[in-house]
Amino acid sequence: MKDSQPWYIQAFQNTYSLVYPHRNESVAQCEVRSLVQSLQLTKPKTILDVGCGSGRHMYAFESMGFHCFGLDLSMHLLEKASVHRNLHGRLVYADMRYFPFRFKFDVIVNLFSSFGYFLNSTDNRSVLDNIHNCLSKNGLFILDHINKTYLQNSLVPESIYKTADAVIRQKRMIVNNRITKKVVITYADQSEIEYTESVQLYTEVEMKELLESCGFVVSSVWGDYSGECFNEHSKRMVMICQAH
Ligand SMILES: C[S@@+](CC[C@H](N)C(=O)[O-])C[C@H]1O[C@@H](n2cnc3c(N)ncnc32)[C@H](O)[C@@H]1O
Repeated sequence: MKDSQPWYIQAFQNTYSLVYPHRNESVAQCEVRSLVQSLQLTKPKTILDVGCGSGRHMYAFESMGFHCFGLDLSMHLLEKASVHRNLHGRLVYADMRYFPFRFKFDVIVNLFSSFGYFLNSTDNRSVLDNIHNCLSKNGLFILDHINKTYLQNSLVPESIYKTADAVIRQKRMIVNNRITKKVVITYADQSEIEYTESVQLYTEVEMKELLESCGFVVSSVWGDYSGECFNEHSKRMVMICQAH
């Protein structure tokens, strides 16, 4: 793996499903059902999944009758979405800092910590500006990010597990308000892949301020996809926003 590539290119190749096996399709189906129910989403709606990965949430939205598009920078994951989930034609290979769309969406989602990847705050902000510009009037934006307080209180500094093909070692720490995770994968033939993930953390207040400065109205903050109130024990921080 080339060190010259940014981490968010290195981390989302064929090693991704080894490191995050629990982020699977059946979990996504439950999450999307919860979201649709709690938001009382009714058809027809066009949805854009920013950082759609292998399309597991797109597929779930589609199976509930919504018309879903996805944007991602990993050709490997987009191919999975295209081949395994038959989402061909609705997938866009692009960087979330530079949207190619000329039309607007009713709902935009950014799920499972797919935000705060860039070291430069202007870059992170440009993702939200793009989303705001691509939402129809009164459109909904759902941002599902890490709950900083929960993470600080529950951080597992080191973990190791084995699969049939590899040993995966992960070291986690919070540095400069970012969660950084060093991942080392050792295959049976002793070859190794190593990279460090790095995601910006935000408190509830900081995230709200950022969203509001980009023109969103934050109508609620949930601790999960079913609409539970957010607090310091919530595993997730789910911002429900409207564009006016
Ligand atoms: C943590 S994964 C989540 C994927 C998906 N939302 C899910 O829950 O399965 C983050 C996703 O963001 C994508 N990504 C990373 N950097 C990106 C960028 N600059 N522009 C667009 N997508 C990017 C990755 O390729 C990856 O698919």
